[in-house]
Amino acid sequence: MEEAAMAGLIVDDREKNLFRVDRQVFTDKGLFEQERQKIFDRCWLYAGHESELAKPDDFVTRQVGGRPLLLTRDQKGGVNAFINACPHRGNMVVREKSGNSRNFTCFYHAWSFDTAGALIGVPGEDAYSESFHRKDHGLARVPRFESYRGLLFVCYDANCVDLVTYFGDEAREQIDHVIDSAAADVEVVQGAQNYSMRANWKLLVENSIDGYHGLPTHQRFFRKYLSDLGLQSNVTSLGSTDSRGRSLGNGHAVTEKPRHMTGLTAGAASELAAQRQLIEQKLGKERAHKAVDFDRNVFIFPNLILISTWRTLRTFYPVAPDYMEVDAWALMPCGESQGLRQKRLENFISFLGPAGFGTPDDVSGLEGCQRGFAGGREARWSDISRGMAREQPVATDELQMRAFWRRWHALMQDRTEPIACGDRD
Ligand code: FES
Ligand code: FE
Repeated sequence: MEEAAMAGLIVDDREKNLFRVDRQVFTDKGLFEQERQKIFDRCWLYAGHESELAKPDDFVTRQVGGRPLLLTRDQKGGVNAFINACPHRGNMVVREKSGNSRNFTCFYHAWSFDTAGALIGVPGEDAYSESFHRKDHGLARVPRFESYRGLLFVCYDANCVDLVTYFGDEAREQIDHVIDSAAADVEVVQGAQNYSMRANWKLLVENSIDGYHGLPTHQRFFRKYLSDLGLQSNVTSLGSTDSRGRSLGNGHAVTEKPRHMTGLTAGAASELAAQRQLIEQKLGKERAHKAVDFDRNVFIFPNLILISTWRTLRTFYPVAPDYMEVDAWALMPCGESQGLRQKRLENFISFLGPAGFGTPDDVSGLEGCQRGFAGGREARWSDISRGMAREQPVATDELQMRAFWRRWHALMQDRTEPIACGDRD
């Protein structure tokens, strides 16, 4: 897309407090290709969690940023991220989703590799010349691979800043709050939710930090179901001033609101109170308060969302402009009673599970938007200016989405320097 056309895709008028996005961004095939290079080839992307690789020789495979990845824990305890493609002629070396194996044998000609990626077996090796050295044919590593508090990220741009710099202080603090809301370590529970939508991936970015849609889209859950159970919801009004929507810089964002949860706390009050005490001892009262007493959706640009209410970690990748694949995992505190773990798992699946109370509503909403975009030439703009004139936007405003769009727009125009992304910056 031409420079001027790209610049015109977003109108960000801070005098008039207007923000709108050209609906081409959800449908255009050329833009979709450019996103691959300018967003997914440049940014740090969530790939997995260290707890998925608990023991030596544990492995998982998954698609991350369009590449097949193989994550392993090797014999020395190191965690590795490889491209899951055979150095011989390219076949996917590991076809299972996860498991434990001391070595991997390629399906095609049976070259084999250890969990540190070294080539350890070549059938009929004597047919190769002296210039053939096993050490030159190990599995290719991703250019950048870092861990932050157990969260594993990859980046396909060797020159990218380090992961902690990429987060910035504010986003890192929010990730800490989610992890620190558990008294012990956290782990990804075995099994994942994998589903897809006929919608552009950026619609799910918006939706994941969209407090405005909660009541109308999910009214059956928030108004009817919870009250039928005698539970209280903290999604009760559109302008609740105790909630916040914030830009965290570089496109990262958060929505936060005081926690008054629900079915989970009902049967586990004493266990949760004991956990709370431990967290206070570890972090001090103030940090414990921030970690434990708020529900938050933390968005890490471009496509990771941590949803504390449901203890959900979610990523999503575009397959086509109008199609995305979603993966979600439960990030649970270790060492809890079986009863509380069970409740948390029910909580994890009951709202955001693919067939839960929330996700089918959201899928319907997002697919409906995508169908509407077929008329994008005539009905051209999406309005994302809610709360732009407000000094302190709340979670039902749209500042957090504007933060995403500002970073997206900058990267699409090759402006890669860190930027603040707030309304007043
Ligand atoms: Fe893997 Fe030939 S492609 S051994
Ligand atoms: Fe929703």
